Amino acid sequence: MTKNIALDHPWLDRSPLLLLDGYRFSERRRRDAEDVTPTRVAGARALIVRGAEAAAWFYGDEALRRRDAVPGLVAQPLFGPGAVHTLDGEHHAVRKHWFVDVLDAEAVRASTARLGTAWREEVSGWDGEVDVFERASAVLTRVAVERAGLAVDPRGWEPLRRDLVAMVDGFGAVAGPRHQRARAARARTQAWVVDQVRAARHGTEASGLVRAVADLGDEDGRQVAAEVAATELLNVVRPQVAVAWLVAGGARALDEHPALRSALADGTLSPIDVAQEVRRTTPFVPLLAARAGRDTRWGDVKVPAGTLVVLDVWGTDHDPRSWARPDVFDPLRYARERVTAVNLVPQGGGSRERGHRCPGEDLTLAYLSVMLPELARSGAVVHEGTVSLRRMPPRPQCRARVEQRR
Ligand code: HEM
Repeated sequence: MTKNIALDHPWLDRSPLLLLDGYRFSERRRRDAEDVTPTRVAGARALIVRGAEAAAWFYGDEALRRRDAVPGLVAQPLFGPGAVHTLDGEHHAVRKHWFVDVLDAEAVRASTARLGTAWREEVSGWDGEVDVFERASAVLTRVAVERAGLAVDPRGWEPLRRDLVAMVDGFGAVAGPRHQRARAARARTQAWVVDQVRAARHGTEASGLVRAVADLGDEDGRQVAAEVAATELLNVVRPQVAVAWLVAGGARALDEHPALRSALADGTLSPIDVAQEVRRTTPFVPLLAARAGRDTRWGDVKVPAGTLVVLDVWGTDHDPRSWARPDVFDPLRYARERVTAVNLVPQGGGSRERGHRCPGEDLTLAYLSVMLPELARSGAVVHEGTVSLRRMPPRPQCRARVEQRR
């Protein structure tokens, strides 16, 4: 018999608790071991789901749409106006094709080669106190901007780095100074890119992604608005800078596991396995949201049209049915435990080409697999407390002391 879970939704909106409980929000709302929790978020009936089976449904059911799923206060500073993240159907397919194309294997190889050189240069100069997050985000900013073919920002590199970081850092705050910083950063950076898109469209010589995005069309072959083109170019640049959160997460994890750190430094541990484990265990994207565009169901659970369906990313990546001892940092687990399209979802799941899965996953793994071994060899010892699972995302800093290179 089909359960009518609509009857179970509490009336009280739990959004404030999301901000308070952070990555533990879903775990705290969950009744016993159930995979599906009815709740109310952002004024809407919501269903939180977790685990590989739930992720398969989340990415496989065409009734689940992205339009209006993420509140504008989060989506606008983070993704930008008209972003691919918020599109559905043919509109999404055409836009997504552009991302998959510009982030192909050759682009990943060239960007990673450039990043590897810049990161080795950076780390070789470290002595004494260093903020690993700040330095990683600085190198990632330069490489991402140069590879995109963007003209150097007249504000200079450091203000640009801070703005790119602020846009990401703001996603866990829908009001207050952190949110305002994100909005201001978005406005400044968007204007800088829009100008370059317009100039390219009016005949100024442009190369790389600036050229490619200036020509970006929609499903009818019409050029997209300059604002939207700028949004999508920033959706290639900004998330590369976000990899700094994972570098900081990796720095902390390796510090806590000296044996793994030495093995990574001397090449006896697979950098890809370490990168996977860093992605799995570093708190970053907590949840993903979709909305039921029509009545649908998950197994025997009835999901009425309009319901917000929330995939618990953190809970899925820590689900004991997929991962033995999920709270333990163990890159060796990948020799025993198999990664599927739906059990490890720090960058989304399902199909990269047809669904909303992150098109930058290969690039992220490639970046981490050159940055983390270099970090392991650097002798940097992190000296700050553990990351709070309440702050979404973790504070953008990771202070370390470099005493002796290994
Ligand atoms: C810290 C590293 C990264 C993390 C944690 C991350 C995470 C994610 C997540 C969770 C999604 C949403 C999946 C969904 O909605 O189902 C996503 C989508 C996306 N990511 Fe990433 N990402 C990262 C790096 C990158 C990079 C390096 C790029 C590009 C160079 C990128 C570009 C995108 C784009 C364009 C989308 C939207 C895809 C769509 O809606 O079809 N991301 N990412």
